[in-house]
Amino acid sequence: MSNFGNANIYLMFAGDKYYKSIWFDESDPGIVRAIDQKRLPFFFEILDFRSVEDIFNAIKEMTIRGAPVIGAAGAFGMYLATLEMTSTTNPHKHLENAARYLISCRPTAINLAWAVNYVMKKLDKNVPAESLSAVALESALEICKNEEESCKNIGINGLKIIEKISRKNKNEPVNILTHCNAGWLACIDYGTATAPVYLAHEKDIPVHVWVDETRPLNQGARLTAWELEQAGVPYTLVTDNTGGHLMQHGMVDIVIVGSDRTARNGDIANKIGTYLKALAAFDNNIPFYCALPTSTLDPDIEDGLSGITVEERDPEEVTTITGITEGKMESVRICPEKARAVNYGFDITPVKYITGYITEKGIYKAEDKEISKMFADKTNGNGRGSKI
Ligand code: MRU
Repeated sequence: MSNFGNANIYLMFAGDKYYKSIWFDESDPGIVRAIDQKRLPFFFEILDFRSVEDIFNAIKEMTIRGAPVIGAAGAFGMYLATLEMTSTTNPHKHLENAARYLISCRPTAINLAWAVNYVMKKLDKNVPAESLSAVALESALEICKNEEESCKNIGINGLKIIEKISRKNKNEPVNILTHCNAGWLACIDYGTATAPVYLAHEKDIPVHVWVDETRPLNQGARLTAWELEQAGVPYTLVTDNTGGHLMQHGMVDIVIVGSDRTARNGDIANKIGTYLKALAAFDNNIPFYCALPTSTLDPDIEDGLSGITVEERDPEEVTTITGITEGKMESVRICPEKARAVNYGFDITPVKYITGYITEKGIYKAEDKEISKMFADKTNGNGRGSKI
């Protein structure tokens, strides 16, 4: 996590060393490194990835998770694929297989396929075999840089919304509810939903975050809480079922969540439970914003509810819970041994429950014309700054 301008505010833990969620170390070109998000907040560990298989498993098992960083990992996976080639390998067959394999590991977040295909396009037949690794690495680093820049601008654009509420609250804390982890761990830096929060905090605008635990893998309780703690941002952990009650009692000023894929009609796919928060916000007239880089917009899907594939994961993630006891991480069963469970990883929030979208190109209301402009701005490079 870095900061938005002031050099010494957000130095991290562990000897206040500065970290991103995934990175490439020139001194070790055969390795891609990332923070192990499965061991947080109990243990801070950095993992080395040396192969396509390593990256595939890390994404599948959610050692690396969150749409933008899954994309970056996929792009680095293509770089590692170029390093796995031998003199007898058919380069383009090998790369096509690696791309198909990496894209297959998780279906909902568009960033994975988007990033892998971005690198594949760069590795076209005109690139001599000896340059494939350099081109793949350059493309992966470009994706990281763009995502980082996007998240920084999401913070700057989203800050205006928080400042407006802060003025209305006469400088009493702005109470923000968020679901899952759409923080810097899920991106490269800054985060999406968290980026305006960090910037507001840096500018001494009082904020307080309600953090949904986010069952079954507790990305909120483990990762968002840990990030906010590192940054010194006040937060309160709540069960996933608490948000509606807080909203009914005027304890939430705004809901800000991330997105894994946003359809042309404005529907968003995000962590399971997001839809229920949108319903409660709508019922209580509380603004519900989705913070996302335009890399997460999917122009090929018209309607989210019918078009976006929702990942179904191992039911054991539901029937067990993982925590720490006597210094060791343990998973325990929380139901009868024979309990049947299903585990949908995401849900779709229809556009009608969304107030607007905070992107790097500006803020767009959840109305047809504005949403079309948001998709147009994704490709034509325009933007709109931060009119709210
Ligand atoms: O299953 P996960 O942890 O990868 O789900 C992540 C989310 O739903 C995030 O909110 C989303 O990826 C946005 S991250 C900026």
